[in-house]
Amino acid sequence: MSSYQETAQQIGSKVSFSYIVPDFANPTGETLTLEQRVELLRLVEDLNIPLVEDNPYGEIRFDGERSNSLLALDCQAKGSIENSRVIYCGSFSKVFMPGLRVGWVCASEEVINRLCLIKQASDLNSPAINQRVMLSLAQQQFDAQINKAKDSYRKKRNAMLAALADHMPSAVTWTKPEGGMFLWMTLPEELDAAELLERSVREAGVAFVPGQAFFADKSGKNTLRLSYSLPSEQKIAEGIKKLGAIIRAACS
Ligand SMILES: Cc1ncc(COP(=O)(O)O)c(C=O)c1O
Repeated sequence: MSSYQETAQQIGSKVSFSYIVPDFANPTGETLTLEQRVELLRLVEDLNIPLVEDNPYGEIRFDGERSNSLLALDCQAKGSIENSRVIYCGSFSKVFMPGLRVGWVCASEEVINRLCLIKQASDLNSPAINQRVMLSLAQQQFDAQINKAKDSYRKKRNAMLAALADHMPSAVTWTKPEGGMFLWMTLPEELDAAELLERSVREAGVAFVPGQAFFADKSGKNTLRLSYSLPSEQKIAEGIKKLGAIIRAACS
């Protein structure tokens, strides 16, 4: 056994599972390339651990080519879902409605059987009526609703990118998501997004999520997540202009 294999085995034995949001991630808005997907699958294979693919935003792609899911790639490589180590989680929350609390999992039969037992033990199952309503809605409206959601979020993403280009100082950078609801901003090193949030809410009525909340090691003080899902294009333009003024003032 090579030293790489030995190290992988040691690390893998201490890790229960891995988790990733591969498409338009919350919080960064970024998407894994095909090469990164293949590399990640190779890594979890070496570590011999399951990979949870959480993909509630994947359907909301407005630009670029759709990527193969990690589950699809793993099934292709292994010949069957029964041999796959990927557990794919989908959700109707982002394109239909979050209130019905309906999503789905695709995985090997063994994993699904165990998940059913765990779900029964934890909440005695999701209400059947909610599942039936969602099934009927999805059968009649899935494509139309996704197209509606894509059109709406594309316009909002464009409004946010245009306003950022107009109002942010040059020391600030941000991701340019091809779908989903979020983008990720990096401020100059010396700025603290949590402090900025207080000023931004008080002085401009603009809220965002300080990036530090997304780091296990509490780094990322100078990062933040912006969401364009709820406000109108006009509100986005106004909000980013105000936020830009606050960041400019903080930079000087
Ligand atoms: C990455 C990610 N996974 C899952 C969820 C939750 O989805 P659901 O409403 O289906 O519980 C969210 C919601 O914000 C999310 O961002």
